[in-house]
Amino acid sequence: MIKKHYKKILTLILITSIWSSLEAQNDNVIEQKIESILSQLTLEEKVNMCHAQSKFSTKGVERLGIPEIWMSDGPHGVRAEISWDDWAYAGWTNDSITAFPALTCLASTFNPNLAKDYGYSVGEEARYRKKDVLLGPGVNIYRTPLNGRNFEYMGEDPFLASKLVVPYVQGVQENGVAACVKHFALNNQEHWRDKINVEVSDRALYEIYLPAFKVAVTEGKTWAIMGAYNKFRGAHTTHSPILHKILKTDWAFDGVVISDWSSAHSTKEAALYGLDMEMGTGTDGLGTTTANHYSSYYLANPFLEAIKKGEIEEAIVDDKVRRILRLMFRTNMSSNRPLGRVNNTEHHEVARKVATEGIVLLKNDKNFFPIQDKKGLTIAVIGENATRSMTKGGGSSELKPKFEISPLEGLKDRYKNAKIIHAMGFASGESVYDQVLPSPYNADSLKVEAIEVAKKADIVLFVGGLSKSHLQDCEGDDRQQYHLPFGQEELLKEIKAVNGNLGMVLLTGNAVEMSWLDKVDGLIQGWYLGSMAGNALADVISGDVNPSGKLPFSFPKKLEDNAAHSFDELSYPGDGTNQYYKEDILVGYRWHDTKKIKPLFAFGEGMSYTDFKLSDIQTDKKSYSENESISVSCTISNVGGRSGSEVVQVYVGKSKSKVKRALKELKGFQKVEVDSGKGVTANIEIPVSALAYYDETTSNWIVEKGTYNVYVGNASNNISKSLKITVK
Ligand code: BGC
Repeated sequence: MIKKHYKKILTLILITSIWSSLEAQNDNVIEQKIESILSQLTLEEKVNMCHAQSKFSTKGVERLGIPEIWMSDGPHGVRAEISWDDWAYAGWTNDSITAFPALTCLASTFNPNLAKDYGYSVGEEARYRKKDVLLGPGVNIYRTPLNGRNFEYMGEDPFLASKLVVPYVQGVQENGVAACVKHFALNNQEHWRDKINVEVSDRALYEIYLPAFKVAVTEGKTWAIMGAYNKFRGAHTTHSPILHKILKTDWAFDGVVISDWSSAHSTKEAALYGLDMEMGTGTDGLGTTTANHYSSYYLANPFLEAIKKGEIEEAIVDDKVRRILRLMFRTNMSSNRPLGRVNNTEHHEVARKVATEGIVLLKNDKNFFPIQDKKGLTIAVIGENATRSMTKGGGSSELKPKFEISPLEGLKDRYKNAKIIHAMGFASGESVYDQVLPSPYNADSLKVEAIEVAKKADIVLFVGGLSKSHLQDCEGDDRQQYHLPFGQEELLKEIKAVNGNLGMVLLTGNAVEMSWLDKVDGLIQGWYLGSMAGNALADVISGDVNPSGKLPFSFPKKLEDNAAHSFDELSYPGDGTNQYYKEDILVGYRWHDTKKIKPLFAFGEGMSYTDFKLSDIQTDKKSYSENESISVSCTISNVGGRSGSEVVQVYVGKSKSKVKRALKELKGFQKVEVDSGKGVTANIEIPVSALAYYDETTSNWIVEKGTYNVYVGNASNNISKSLKITVK
């Protein structure tokens, strides 16, 4: 028996080593091909490969059979085709796709396997649409609930984002499509994004803002990274020392740095500080002003001239072209990439699964949810978000799905016995990119109608939130208020006065103020859920699916309770020129925990229709050396009436330390499915090296010796047990 097992292991080792040596050989062959192509390219052809030829493509070299590169946004699906020279949609009829849930929802699943399915499916659609680069995912850390683009990112915790970005990237790239992880780095707000200079400590940089980017490179092996609009320590991040020093040297990134659209600002800096491909700089392309022509890009003619004059060495363009060719050998010059698929049932199922697993149940007094489908029951669905398209708007992540099931449609489809009635209740107004056009509806009439509808119902489900339009969860600028817009708070109060049986479905990508929380018995955080939104919501509301989502960021009671907003305006939004991240490493729950400021809802929080109990919580040992792993085990018992999933979360903290520390930080988690009345054991491994802090005096990661607290629970504010361990 033992012999057989031993043989199996040996065979496995042999296969793995043959495989990796084949891979290495293959890499060598590709590198040789790259050198051979490089030697045949003229200087003009090389420079031409480093900048756009249209809004979303770059030139190939026809005489050598080198194709163009085609890109698309990302990250929640493949964007509709855009015109050659401007932002208008091209009006194709064959570019509709599956819209996947927003990345905040993916983060709430705490499920890396689903991130893989998500990445793979969106990658298949990108491949089908003949894209070589998918512009996503985004992993900028959630610093303030006002950031207009938080819905495109993976929450406030670098460990959670790291665990999800790796499989997403791998999934996309298995299709021979490059992921382009964005926006590197410190693009944590939209307000003044083009010019704000971020000042942040090295510790916060390395411990909070960079880890997800780092693993996207070192583990996910992403083939592209997008620079950001903002500056960091005085330099535009798209061409800044962090690209060479951190990304390309320390992390050995061998892919392509692509600018954000119009984030390059100078030829010399773009050439010398790490940018490989310039996109979006003033593209009216072939229009009237030569200044905006692609050949006037910083990495176009001015770059060529500088090389010709000897101001920039030719080796600089060679390095960029090497990277671009490498990306091409991995994508459009690879002979064995799959063909892709679009809008197929499996993709819709993945979208639905991510959506149902990401929905978070936050309040459930009097068992408001699930709502039974009973004859004689009337459910009033009130709120514009019950019918509004949430794949539209938001900026560059806007999608054109083949279909989008609205919450109202999903509920009507699911509830065959109960009667569903509906009123719009409020109207947000139409949004174009950077302005909001007033709504054609009269707010008072909408309110009166909603109250009449509420009176007729047994249960009211208010479907509200933000609108994904300018200033309401949208690229280009931040939200200007923390509370719910468009008169929703007032409307909730008035509905409550006529019908006490009130629940809320909140569709946002951000935390909002909830002065109205006591008015509702049930609260579901429903994000932006993509094509299958209505089905997924109905799955959870009806109880067909037991909710298991957990918040990927804290919901502060009031805005000033959030770390970034606890300081003056230099912390947020800055003075128009500079901004200082004064909370330093204490972002999100790290701040709430350490400063003992209770959030309204905490990071990692989320309820289920069943009850779980964590027990037998232990570590395998009490004392560890630096190269060992801490093995945490715990039994999760389902003590309620139905099967469900729970996320065990392990946080670690160190109360006596040489440096400032958060009370605790997430270092491991595991999602487990448990049948009613059963128990399952979770084992979570935490390498001791993961407890290191970034030492600013030596620019090194240091694992401090001494006692650590290991906290195990099912939310950052619900710890079942804390244990002490020692690092020798
Ligand atoms: C956004 C990027 C996006 C690009 C192309 C920019 O405005 O910041 O995330 O990929 O446009 O649409």
